[in-house]
This record gives sequence, C-alpha cells and structure tokens, in this order.
Amino acid sequence: MKRKSLILLIVAAILVLIQFIRPNYPKSETSEGKDIITVLHAPDNISNIVKSACYDCHSSQYEIPWYGKIAPTSWFVANHVNEGLEEFNMSAWTKYDRKGMDHKLEEAAEMMDEGEMPLKSYTIMHKEARLSKEQRKLLAGWFNSKRREISGNVTPAVSGQEEAHEHEHEHGHEHDHD
Ligand code: HEC
Repeated sequence: MKRKSLILLIVAAILVLIQFIRPNYPKSETSEGKDIITVLHAPDNISNIVKSACYDCHSSQYEIPWYGKIAPTSWFVANHVNEGLEEFNMSAWTKYDRKGMDHKLEEAAEMMDEGEMPLKSYTIMHKEARLSKEQRKLLAGWFNSKRREISGNVTPAVSGQEEAHEHEHEHGHEHDHD
C-alpha cells in the first residue's frame, strides 16, 4: 500500500473510532413557563433575539446542530451547552432567588455591552445569532430595566402596567447611574 493511502486509512479509522466517544448533552426538557421570557414578560422583539442568540446554550430547549452530532466537534458543542447552562439557565429562571436574578441580569447586560455573548465560536456557524449594536443595546437595556424592577421590589410588570413602570425607571435612570 502506498504511504499516502495508508495515512488516509488511518485518519479515516480514527474518525470512525472517535464517534464512539459520545458527547454528553444535558437532558433537554420543557420549561413549563419557568423560563426568563415568560416570567419577565419579555416583549416579542426581545424574546426573538434571546431565543435565537442565547437559548442554544442557556436553555434546556437547545438545538444541536449537525456538527454537534459528529466527533470531535460534538465534544465542544456539548461542553458549551453544559457550561452555559450551568452558568446561566434561562429555562429555570424561577430557581434563582432575588439576589441571584439580580446578579444574572447584571452579568447579562455586561456581556451585551462587552460583546462577549453569544460566543464567537457559535456566531461563526449561526448567522442569525450575530447581534448588531442596536440589538445589543436593546438587550442590555431590557436586562437592566428588569434588574431595576427586581431590586426595587416591583413585581414583574403585568401587561399594561409595564409601560408606566418602564417610564418611571427611564426617568430615574439619569440620576442614579454612576
Ligand atoms: C455557544 C454557546 C453560548 C451562547 C450562544 C451564549 N452563551 Fe452565554 N455562556 C456560554 C458559556 C460556555 C458560558 C460560561 C463560560 C464563560 O463565561 O465564557 C456563558 C456565560 C454566560 C453568562 C455568565 C453567567 C455568570 O453568572 O457568570 C451570561 C450572563 C451569559 N452567558 C449570557 C448570554 C446571553 C445573554 C446570550 C445571548 C445573547 C448568551 N450568553 C449566548 C455559552 C453561550
């Protein structure tokens, strides 16, 4: 056998063999109204972005892309889903206490400002998750407004009252921002 075809054969054999090392994805489950979008009454424009840009790593309703089913890329994808979920599970928003919620919202707004999320390795393959400056601002603004609601002990807005609360906050914002 020629040297070149031997190498090809070995590479092919390795690729086949590593398929037996299965990626370890967390259990995918429905959130039954406990996800951040439902609990915090996210308007459509926000929930659409969050679902397409964050949910694949921060929710239990993640979708696995084709390269997430083939080793070795599957190991990296599974790792991101596991780590992302562990850090911030948007499907189980109600499991956080008020301090926890406040902290997650703060981090999330920060990630938007700094452009750290969604991970670059993800947006290479997911065009729909690439966020424009405006979308980042929109999300950061929403996370911050919810943060003020939660820490100000205002019960998450019921539709109708939301507008009024949002205005109050907008107003106070100029003064108490550092
Ligand atoms: C490709 C997977 C992936 C996507 C998509 C993604 N994240 Fe993450 N996220 C991670 C991983 C992994 C971590 C933990 C490690 C790190 O911080 O880099 C993380 C960490 C975070 C944290 C930090 C939590 C903490 O308490 O430290 C926040 C907040 C966050 N992500 C928000 C978001 C938001 C908001 C979006 C959507 C706009 C998003 N992420 C999209 C994978 C992802």
